[in-house]
Amino acid sequence: MEVKRFIAKTTQQIKKTVGNQKTLVACSGGVDSVVCTILGHQALGKKLLAIFIDSGLMRDGEPEEVTKILKKFGVKTKLIRARAKFLKALRGKVDPERKRKAFRDTFYKVLGQAVKTEKAKFLIQGTIKADIIETQGGVKTQHNVLEQIGIDPQKYGLKVLEPLKELFKPEVRQIAKALNLPEEISERMPFPGPGLATRIVGEVTPRRVKIVREATKIIEKELHQLKPFQTFAVLLSDKATGIKGGKRALGNIIVIRCVNSSNAMTAKPSKISFELLQKIQKKITKIPSIVRVCYDLTPKPPATIEYI
Ligand code: XMP
Repeated sequence: MEVKRFIAKTTQQIKKTVGNQKTLVACSGGVDSVVCTILGHQALGKKLLAIFIDSGLMRDGEPEEVTKILKKFGVKTKLIRARAKFLKALRGKVDPERKRKAFRDTFYKVLGQAVKTEKAKFLIQGTIKADIIETQGGVKTQHNVLEQIGIDPQKYGLKVLEPLKELFKPEVRQIAKALNLPEEISERMPFPGPGLATRIVGEVTPRRVKIVREATKIIEKELHQLKPFQTFAVLLSDKATGIKGGKRALGNIIVIRCVNSSNAMTAKPSKISFELLQKIQKKITKIPSIVRVCYDLTPKPPATIEYI
């Protein structure tokens, strides 16, 4: 791919398709959606509004961090707080696909409302090729693929543009660099749309989100040095016996996931020293309800990267 040509061609296409109409971009802060946002901004300037939906399932400090970066790049940005809506939709659901659908429906309701409020006609999304292939292949339901899974975007009142749908992650990173985005974005680990919900097996509750968020912060900090493709914490639904305050106690289990991959279609677990794993274990078991920490050795396939 010729990066400069891609950028020129894509911004031209966005301009031509959208014309003078107001456009929204759903930006999550990941490299895909930030690249889309910057391409959209270059094509449309102030006619583009970046919407960042705070689902309550982001990592620690993420909503504030992302909106700050976008503002620095001169992108008109709006942060929509919708935590309660997502938690309500996820309440009581344990089946992975039901959770994904609940997330997706809520996401599009919130976004659809924003489109109406802002009187926007177009929506730019950061769907990439791997999302489409995996959704078509039935590996999972991606929340950000509409037409490919037979959903009529019109139902949500949107016309959707997906400028990155022919690209894989490494190409998107190349474009991010060419757009002068900071390394913090161009090399950012993929973070799925449904956020921490993909890392909570079983029901998503505020308490369980808090646990997985705390453990994620520890793992990301300690494993950053390995430059993995993705690393995060997973909260299992099973419990196990441990010792808390000198007494036997049934507590939660956290899994450390850390994988290397080039395009997320396949992945291998990272080699982590036993000392480093122990260091992480000590920090994570300080979280009150956690009694055990495991390291996941499974490549993709047969596992997937995320847990739901
Ligand atoms: P899996 O778990 O299927 O994930 O091996 C492959 C890659 O896709 C990311 N992922 C998602 N990204 N929306 C996204 O934008 C989603 O619903 C979603 N689910 C998984 C995952 O983090 C990994 O990089």
